[in-house]
Amino acid sequence: MHELADVAKVMGGRVIRRVVFDADTIEDRVREMGREITDAYPDGDLLVLGLLKGSFIFLGDLVREIQRPIQIDFLVASSYGNATVSSGEVRLVYDPETRLDGKHILLVEDIIDSGRTLNRMVEVLGARNPKSLELCALLDKHIAPDLKLKAKFLGFDAPKEFLVGYGLDHAEDFRHLPFIASLAE
Ligand code: IMP
Ligand code: MG
Repeated sequence: MHELADVAKVMGGRVIRRVVFDADTIEDRVREMGREITDAYPDGDLLVLGLLKGSFIFLGDLVREIQRPIQIDFLVASSYGNATVSSGEVRLVYDPETRLDGKHILLVEDIIDSGRTLNRMVEVLGARNPKSLELCALLDKHIAPDLKLKAKFLGFDAPKEFLVGYGLDHAEDFRHLPFIASLAE
């Protein structure tokens, strides 16, 4: 295991169980995804929209592998409601500064779980008349019951476990790990 794992193996009382995708595997796949995105968009303005905070490392690596002009902005979504039972409501706490109309929008998400956040974002962004709206996700657990928009660009199929690292957190811990790991129960 990477030596950082020994430093950060236990955070907030939670323990890393195993490394699921190591840094080299992620690097190779992200480079390929950059190529796929470069090839998929022949012309027109392309705005890459990262959903914070989970996508920040993935987005930083991904955009450096896209070999065409792009613009970058971010969205912050926040779900709220009862602590134990999710209300399903999602609100935007940071809205992109950039105009979306007439642009190709590529929404970048860290992981697709229930799909609730994404479905809401797709509604909100779709209403702003983008030229196209596509989704790029690093990970998909394939458990979202009715996704409005499937990932056109997907990094990896994820195991149905709680994952941390490479931007993904557990209660804000573990985001800085250069690999993706699962947590012990
Ligand atoms: P959804 O709305 O249920 O699809 O949840 C999406 C968000 O929940 C993701 O963008 C992540 O921030 C977070 N999330 C879902 N599953 C995991 C996980 O396994 N590890 C860390 N964060 C997760
Ligand atoms: Mg999170």
